[in-house]
Amino acid sequence: MSNGTQREQWGSKMGFVLAAAGSAVGLGNIWRFPYITGQNGGAAFVLLYVALVFVIGFSVMLAEIAIGRHAQLNAVGAFRKIKGGAWPIVGWMGVIAGFIILSYYGVIAGWTMAYIVKSFTGLMDAAKAGTAADFFVGFITNPGAVIAWQAAFMFLTIFIVYKGIGGGIEKYCKVLMPALFLILLVLIVRAVTLPGAGAGIEFYLKPDFSKLTTGALGAALGQAFFSLSLGMGCMITYGSYLGKKEILPGAAIQVCFIDTAVAFLAGLVIFPAVFAFALEPGAGPGLTFITLPNVFAQMPGGMVWSALFFLLLFVAALTSAISLLEVVAAYFIDEMKWSRTKAAFIMGGIIFLLGIPSVLGISGAIPKLAGRDFLDSADFIASNVLLPLGGIFIALFVGWFWTDGAKQEVDNNGAVPFSLYVPWLWVCRVVAPLAIAYILITGLKW
Ligand code: TRP
Repeated sequence: MSNGTQREQWGSKMGFVLAAAGSAVGLGNIWRFPYITGQNGGAAFVLLYVALVFVIGFSVMLAEIAIGRHAQLNAVGAFRKIKGGAWPIVGWMGVIAGFIILSYYGVIAGWTMAYIVKSFTGLMDAAKAGTAADFFVGFITNPGAVIAWQAAFMFLTIFIVYKGIGGGIEKYCKVLMPALFLILLVLIVRAVTLPGAGAGIEFYLKPDFSKLTTGALGAALGQAFFSLSLGMGCMITYGSYLGKKEILPGAAIQVCFIDTAVAFLAGLVIFPAVFAFALEPGAGPGLTFITLPNVFAQMPGGMVWSALFFLLLFVAALTSAISLLEVVAAYFIDEMKWSRTKAAFIMGGIIFLLGIPSVLGISGAIPKLAGRDFLDSADFIASNVLLPLGGIFIALFVGWFWTDGAKQEVDNNGAVPFSLYVPWLWVCRVVAPLAIAYILITGLKW
């Protein structure tokens, strides 16, 4: 680096894979994936989703990691260093998307923290009385409480990013990711052994292709992008801390695999439980916060299962939030020469403040815009516009504009041949841009 200090690096390839998987595995897997699957008919949608992850998701992820590792810089700096021209705009969009996504992600993550505590203080009673929905709405429309939880969550996120790559992000992900996996396994055993779980397993695993609607393709690809943390330079930033000897395609496939496995396993907790208690799988965003407490309340030791589940959700959200803040922080550290401390606390603080309108929108203090509250609008702009646009340009960049450099990155200058190089190149050149353009256009119904 120009100021002579060595750029931080991951301690090991395992460290990178766990941190990148920590970024990918989040609310998207455990909260969003099951309800999207529920709304889109179950098993057939799951198959479509998995196919898209491994063809398009994997390709864009490898493209991002290659750009980052080559440049050893944040998302904006990487494009400037490799090509310049208008390309840094792609990185800029990513940094802006990071601000927007984390602003509301911190709010929902705050809910999950609150629900860990509430599992012991009233949530179960409300569910038994049939008022879990009122309980949920009562909580999220109380700005004081929600902002306090959001602040606590953002503080933890800022603290870990301030601690840096090896001593912060990697260290915490190495503990939190295995913990998450263990909690998930315990919950699966509980869910699939519930009487009546079979119907849920069937809905989730036995494909009925007649249930696939035309909207399913867009829903599946949009979910894949959000879940894999693609399109905003997250993987560029994390890739920039990777050493030159690591083999990128292997790392990318591992991250895709872990992310998909966690989403899949989360479904294996939720669908058996929802069917065992004759609840509605297509309930939408309320599936985790309203439907699941109903399920837990009817189980022996329900408050413990409930707390465990929301702990799982919180851990997943934390390792993702870190990656969102890191994209923004890395920009200010590399480009503005800020210290890590300054970048983490100031930008984290601003993002916390940006989340407050999302809280106030839900409580009704801020009016809706075209039927969407502030949080939904922010999510819409980031997920349906900025991420797909970023994904298209990243794929085109690697496929057409930086082909030779990208080849050297993915096969370590010819040292480790990448057997799927040609298919990967053509997915980046044609398949991914067209498919993403399709979701961009079909998803633009505001
Ligand atoms: N992938 C995370 C999830 O599933 C969210 C996330 C983290 C993300 N970093 C991102 C989404 C970058 C898009 C882009 O919850």
